[in-house]
Amino acid sequence: MNEGDLYADREQTLVKHFILEHYLERFAHIVGSAWDAITYVDCFAGPWNARSEHLEDSSFALALAQLRAARTNLADLKLARGRPPLELRCFFLEKDAAAFARLSEFAKDVRDAEIATKHATLEQSVDDIVAFVARRQNDAFPFVFVDPTGWTGFGLDVIEPLLKLRPGEVLVNFMTGHILRFAEHSDPAIQQSFDRLFGPIDYRARIVRLAGQDREDELVRCYCDAIRDTGGYDYVCPAIVLHPENDRTHFHLLYATRNAKGVEAFKQVEKKAMEVMEKARGEVQKRGRVHRTGQLELLGAEQMHDTRHYDALRGRHLTAARVDVEQLLVTRRVVVYDEAWITALSHPLVWDSDLKAWIAKWVKEGRLRITGMKPRERVPKREAGHQLVWRGQRRE
Ligand SMILES: C[S@@+](CC[C@H](N)C(=O)[O-])C[C@H]1O[C@@H](n2cnc3c(N)ncnc32)[C@H](O)[C@@H]1O
Repeated sequence: MNEGDLYADREQTLVKHFILEHYLERFAHIVGSAWDAITYVDCFAGPWNARSEHLEDSSFALALAQLRAARTNLADLKLARGRPPLELRCFFLEKDAAAFARLSEFAKDVRDAEIATKHATLEQSVDDIVAFVARRQNDAFPFVFVDPTGWTGFGLDVIEPLLKLRPGEVLVNFMTGHILRFAEHSDPAIQQSFDRLFGPIDYRARIVRLAGQDREDELVRCYCDAIRDTGGYDYVCPAIVLHPENDRTHFHLLYATRNAKGVEAFKQVEKKAMEVMEKARGEVQKRGRVHRTGQLELLGAEQMHDTRHYDALRGRHLTAARVDVEQLLVTRRVVVYDEAWITALSHPLVWDSDLKAWIAKWVKEGRLRITGMKPRERVPKREAGHQLVWRGQRRE
């Protein structure tokens, strides 16, 4: 089966898997060159709607393939340093019996990595996961994937010990579409489940007067704050995954780390994933039109795809990010480039190249000066002590 068939009618999963797979590719390379082992935890492993006979379209198989590839690629480097090959450790958790049976089948054939599986809920398993991670506390770097089907089962109180793992990174699927719909539901049980999801963050007060996209963005910011504060993360980046058939958000993938290198890798993957997403949405929507009208279209899906929603979202986040960076510069006057960089890139759909373009424009207009660059350097970069010095209004 080709990729198109594996992900037909679940293109949002294609985007999710693209981000997971390609981020792990970079993560495993960066982390694997410095650490002896990687501990990968999939808290909601599935398989879930997987079509491939060998489960290649499941998150756990995709992850393991990337970790294995990094081990192979790093073998010579490790050898040259007198280190053993990268060790891979995985903890796969699944509560559904049928899915767990398939997961176990997959796991029992794995001979080249340490695999622990558990048939239970996350609520019942956090202590086991923490103990599994702790067994290699000193030489293994953990990555935790939280990919639930709704908004229950991973309250902030439940996942707190996982968020607090140090070192550690997490990727959480925040089901924005569902959560937004029920966020102010009057049913006390639903309210309680949301209280657990957001923990101490008073999300109701923050969204109550907002509507539409403002409300969605603020809700996602609330959850980013909850993850950042609880886990003590320096950076939390949300990536938007749109519904394949229409112009609304399906979910956000929230990536949290304490290392700017991770942000750099994640943002590069997010950018590529958005191209994959828009291409897939174009194809799905074309199929829908042909089905509805019975008319074949002369132009291809890409030419016919109406990208206005995506473009408007990107425009919106670009403006918000630019305003944030300008605000930072106006208030502080002198800002280390790294801080401007993270201020911009914490917004979804905003790339490194966007920040560089604003900086170049402000420099050209005489509003900004860059200090600390070597004579031949033209653009500022991180971790180089480059500073942005705000000079105020446009100088003629
Ligand atoms: C969205 S699916 C996971 C998909 C998988 N991560 C992937 O991308 O291929 C969520 C899975 O979590 C399982 N699940 C639901 N609630 C759970 C809980 N409280 N603890 C553990 N697993 C749970 C479901 O049975 C389902 O298989």
